[in-house]
Amino acid sequence: MSKLSLVGKTALVTGGASGIGRAIARELASAGAAVIIVDMDTLGEQTAQELRDQDQQAVFIQTDISKREQIVHAVDIAIASFGSLDILINNAGIYPRGLLEETDEELWDRVISTNLKGSYLACQAALPHLQKKGGSIIILGSSHAEIGLPELFAYSVSKGGLLTMTRNLASALAMYRIRVNCVNPGWVATDKEIKERAANGQSVEWLIETGKSLPLGRMQTEEDTSAMVHFLVSDQATQITGQFIHVDGGRSVYQGIQDNSLHANDTVIIE
Ligand SMILES: NC(=O)c1ccc[n+]([C@@H]2O[C@H](COP(=O)([O-])OP(=O)(O)OC[C@H]3O[C@@H](n4cnc5c(N)ncnc54)[C@H](O)[C@@H]3O)[C@@H](O)[C@H]2O)c1
Repeated sequence: MSKLSLVGKTALVTGGASGIGRAIARELASAGAAVIIVDMDTLGEQTAQELRDQDQQAVFIQTDISKREQIVHAVDIAIASFGSLDILINNAGIYPRGLLEETDEELWDRVISTNLKGSYLACQAALPHLQKKGGSIIILGSSHAEIGLPELFAYSVSKGGLLTMTRNLASALAMYRIRVNCVNPGWVATDKEIKERAANGQSVEWLIETGKSLPLGRMQTEEDTSAMVHFLVSDQATQITGQFIHVDGGRSVYQGIQDNSLHANDTVIIE
């Protein structure tokens, strides 16, 4: 059997109803995992049905991950349905914009409760099951954990906390052969991103053109991230833990302002 096979494993994916989480649910199910899709949005049932229609194993459980009893219930259903839990994908997240001075307590609490507390609750609920035979936790991170984007204040702080959570748990849980890694998806044109940009007067064509200025020449796709997540949770990656992996087309290491005009005339003028 290929080391990328996930046959016999059960994966719980938070925020699996749409966007990157849905792509991860599809990828892990197609590799043979039984998938529990956990989301507040009932669109998750559609994703689960799509997978079952392809003879893959999937159930949807409507869950608010910021509520302890709901995520514990989802883990209980995973065990009752498939007998074990081997993989936890902490993907659900929200990214409302706001500078420090625009961030009221309601926005702060909402972002921290979903992004940071939700992942803590999910890790805690999953732990006794992952401890039984080892497993893998993936946390969806962001470059904003490490670099400043002023208008994403609460979001950036939550992702900074998640990076610390990754490193802390990687070291604490290695003794159980539980690996914990953080994946930054880069800049992905999810349905939500496309809708939000459209509301801001920015078309899909604008997104595509802007993507061309990134080091590797395009925006990332949901599948770029799901492929990395698949690799990390598989037996190909049994010695990788505590890492922050950027699937961002080189953006995180690019130090300059992208100016493609230099390629056109090969002339640099320094005044
Ligand atoms: N899209 C990007 O460019 C990008 C970049 C960096 C990081 N990320 C991260 O990737 C993850 C997925 O992002 P996305 O763009 O696919 O988002 P999305 O909005 O398309 O999907 C997020 C999903 O999470 C669900 N969700 C939100 N709050 C929840 C809650 N309390 N309980 C259960 N489900 C909840 C939503 O219903 C939705 O289905 C997030 O953690 C995000 O921060 C995304």
